[in-house]
Amino acid sequence: MAVRLFEGSDHAEAYLKFRVAPQELIGIIMSFMEKRTRNFHLAVDVGCGSGQGTTLLAPFFTEVVGTDVSPAQLQLAPTDGGPSNVSYRQCPAEELPFECEEVDLVTAMTAAHWFDHRRFLHEAYRVLRPGGCLALLSYTMDMELEYGDVSKTLNDICKEFYAALFPYRNPHIGSNSVEIYAGMFHSCPYPDKEWNECLRVRRHVPLSGFIAMVETFSSYRSLKETDPAEAAQLSSRLRNKLLAVMKTSSPDAEVIMIVKYFYWLARKP
Ligand SMILES: C[S@@+](CC[C@H](N)C(=O)[O-])C[C@H]1O[C@@H](n2cnc3c(N)ncnc32)[C@H](O)[C@@H]1O
Ligand SMILES: *[C@@H]1O[C@H](CO)[C@@H](O)[C@H](O)[C@H]1NC(C)=O
Repeated sequence: MAVRLFEGSDHAEAYLKFRVAPQELIGIIMSFMEKRTRNFHLAVDVGCGSGQGTTLLAPFFTEVVGTDVSPAQLQLAPTDGGPSNVSYRQCPAEELPFECEEVDLVTAMTAAHWFDHRRFLHEAYRVLRPGGCLALLSYTMDMELEYGDVSKTLNDICKEFYAALFPYRNPHIGSNSVEIYAGMFHSCPYPDKEWNECLRVRRHVPLSGFIAMVETFSSYRSLKETDPAEAAQLSSRLRNKLLAVMKTSSPDAEVIMIVKYFYWLARKP
């Protein structure tokens, strides 16, 4: 029965709540930009999904536009209630509806690995003004947990879970998405650029939030499509094993979830 807890609207809610680009990374992007100037007009967040990362950019820009190819994702973005200077457009990452040299910042948060890399980089360079920045960030799947003195055991259980999902990874991403971003970084011709392979971001979340987060992985969703029963079982096995080690029955028990972000930043000369 408890498995149902993680379906439907609860799931969508948890997704919105826990799958957020962290403020820490926005801070890092803005200090990279502010090394040069402090007056920013337009930011474009490409592959913005439901706009969770997009809205974090609002305080720093006159205007922020989130773009995504998926109408379903964009529908989840806040229309009213969100910052008034943030809007959304439906378009592919490889064809951005902006003039040449119009944009101060192009970001892609956990999205660029889905794009046509060569065409997207080309398009980002076209729309960026000289001195404008490109920021690509994502995180690896191997999230860790901290809880009392049983963290090691919890992480062994998580590793088993990740291994079970491994065959369901999209072949486009290969075994490691870091490599895709590293390849894009090396092909970026701007001299002023920065690569960070691991930024550990810690969050206090209920265990159910962690489970909901891993259920948003595309490999999990792909397993769920092929074999819903197996997916549900895998997830409830993960939850029950973690709960047993934590010696609690409450999925609300708070754990520390560690997300390993990687990112690169580059400034158009
Ligand atoms: C994992 S989601 C990330 C969403 C959001 N940036 C976030 O951090 O929560 C990836 C998004 O990229 C979008 N996407 C994939 N390929 C795309 C493309 N070629 N052009 C534009 N968006 C694309 C998908 O529709 C999806 O919303
Ligand atoms: C954009 O909206 C954010 C959040 O509402 C606000 O902090 C920021 O000052 C706005 N920017 C401008 C230039 O109005």
